[in-house]
Amino acid sequence: MIHKGRIIMYKYLFSPVTINNLQIKNRIAYPALGLLYSYDGNLNDRYYNYFRERSGGGAGLVTVGPVGVDFLGSGSIILSLRADENIPAFQKLTSLIKDEGARAWVQLFHAGGYSFPFLLDGKEPIAPSSVFNQYSKATPREMTLEDIERVEEAFASAALRAKEAGFDGVEIIASAGYLITQFLSPLRNKRTDEYGGSFENRVRFPREIIQRVRARLGSGFPLGIRMAGNDFVPGSNTDAETPKFARVYEEAGVDVINVTGGWHESRVPQLPMDLPRSAYAYLAMNIKNAVSVPVMASNRISTPEMAEKILRDGYADMVNLGRVLIADPEWPIKAFEGRANEIRPCVACSQGCTDQIFSGQPVYCIANPRAGFEGERNIEKTGSPKRLMVVGAGAAGLEAAVTAAQAGHMVEVYDRADDIGGQIWVACAPPHKQELLEFIRYYRAMLNKYAIPVHLNTEVNAELIREEAPDHVIVAEGAEPLVPPIKGIDDPQVLSSWTVLRDNPLLGKEVAIIGGGAVGLEVALFVAAKGTLSPEILHFLFAYDAETPERLRELMFQGACRVTVFEMLPKAGGDVGKSTKWILMANLKRHGVRIKTNARVTAINNNTVFFDKDGHSEEQKFDSVIIASGSRSVQRLSEALTEMGIPYTTVGDCIQPGKLNDAIHGGFLAALRI
Ligand SMILES: Cc1cc2nc3c(=O)[nH]c(=O)nc-3n(C[C@H](O)[C@H](O)[C@H](O)COP(=O)(O)O)c2cc1C
Repeated sequence: MIHKGRIIMYKYLFSPVTINNLQIKNRIAYPALGLLYSYDGNLNDRYYNYFRERSGGGAGLVTVGPVGVDFLGSGSIILSLRADENIPAFQKLTSLIKDEGARAWVQLFHAGGYSFPFLLDGKEPIAPSSVFNQYSKATPREMTLEDIERVEEAFASAALRAKEAGFDGVEIIASAGYLITQFLSPLRNKRTDEYGGSFENRVRFPREIIQRVRARLGSGFPLGIRMAGNDFVPGSNTDAETPKFARVYEEAGVDVINVTGGWHESRVPQLPMDLPRSAYAYLAMNIKNAVSVPVMASNRISTPEMAEKILRDGYADMVNLGRVLIADPEWPIKAFEGRANEIRPCVACSQGCTDQIFSGQPVYCIANPRAGFEGERNIEKTGSPKRLMVVGAGAAGLEAAVTAAQAGHMVEVYDRADDIGGQIWVACAPPHKQELLEFIRYYRAMLNKYAIPVHLNTEVNAELIREEAPDHVIVAEGAEPLVPPIKGIDDPQVLSSWTVLRDNPLLGKEVAIIGGGAVGLEVALFVAAKGTLSPEILHFLFAYDAETPERLRELMFQGACRVTVFEMLPKAGGDVGKSTKWILMANLKRHGVRIKTNARVTAINNNTVFFDKDGHSEEQKFDSVIIASGSRSVQRLSEALTEMGIPYTTVGDCIQPGKLNDAIHGGFLAALRI
């Protein structure tokens, strides 16, 4: 495909598509994504600024949502189109989305039994049946026929308000375990009237909503539905049933079907790094094979190559880019212009988005310090460029260097290692963490783009600083493993978690890990996975029936080492994020990792671990012992810089060991303040 004399690499991605009568400039849709930028259900500048950037970055379609239709389905903190008075604020939003060249779409939302009672001013959540809900930890009230009529009408009148507010299209949510999926699922719908029991009865509620919304909007207005491709909940609907629902939706009047994964309470990961990229595109294809309206694919569609492949191979007609557009709203423009290596990565870490929203906090992004702060964190060109020396090429130093260069400063980066990346190399080693390497890809591209000199294998000391005489120094020296005061820990046989993750040495059969925090558990998984089947070999053996499925399962999880973790606290993984902890714990269990809690290690001698547990002293012999007891800041230069009178800023782990977020945001903010 040639555009203005240039070859476009992703010709399907950047070809237009028509939904009903609406032309959309490309196949990229930003899906509904709760942000919590207000707690009163109203739009504000933070929302406007956020959406202006998401629309200006080149996506063809931008969805605002969730937007509530009924108080019992969304409470008071979610945006709403429950009343006419909500329309003007949305008019402002649709105008700015459209001014940026995108189509404005809205997702109408009702949580049903997923509503949290504390957000409903003491009122009871409603659902098809009064069945305890694992997600909201509440038992909803069974909807009466009047409730059903009222909610259907609420969808229709909110849709009309959306049209009046200037939206180009409306989407109804029928995914993730919310109200409509509750009607469809035999697990949640125990009704004996015309809305429960048979397939026809369970699908009656969404069918009536679609018909009613369609009647209100008129035939020429785009209408879509977002559906679960498979609920991924035992006893609920699977991808055998979902194409039948899709056919009903199409017949009832939708113009587009947006297919995502399963319910929030599913024990199959839906969003985190463990979910392989584009893993659920097959669910979109399953629906596409059943209907003739355009279908959108979702979940972990990360790179332009992947998005293009989904379209080219016929999985779907459009792709949803959710978190990747939080991380980099300019993903579409950069892909279009052949600058994909400059895309800031979404590594599906869940920290700034899912973990935040599930704790009732606003969304941010570890990779993009500006996400959610578009109005205030702007890089402005400096009028007085400074010579900046950045000491340390880990995430904090790299982010500071790139931001300062973008502001017009003259930057040089130094690191004593032989490559950039610092601790990212350690963090990306455990299973399912390779996505973190994307940061190295990104920073390499940016160092290159801004022609920032990088001095590797260079120890920065006072002499070098004096020689270079910079105007300002960013000190990003990072951290080093913490060695706890345990007798015998300095035995050279005892390995640090960093050495294991970075050098991947040969270990013995029985392996002890001292420390059951996030790093200890990740190392445990890394060690336990040694010697297990690779995905490719699993695929091969499975395809040829070379081993039984039971044996293959064993080979996937039983490796070369048996791992025991010692944690002195009552629970391991206290510092692991909420939305990923259960996945990590389940993985450790599958790999047979034993975790001894309340176990304080007192000494190590010739690979024998001595520990106190439940008031008893015990000992256990291992073949390898690994210490994973956190890290401590490294600050070698501050004193010298103060003495020399050179202004400096410390960033990242060298202030205090923290998460990647602290490093990247800290580096960015430090560069803005130079
Ligand atoms: C913080 C957060 C909030 C979300 N809120 C919604 C929502 O309200 N409605 C919805 O249909 N999907 C919601 N999603 C799912 C996203 O639309 C999207 O399907 C998901 O993030 C997977 O796509 P991605 O990997 O491109 O981000 C949410 C996801 C996240 C991370």
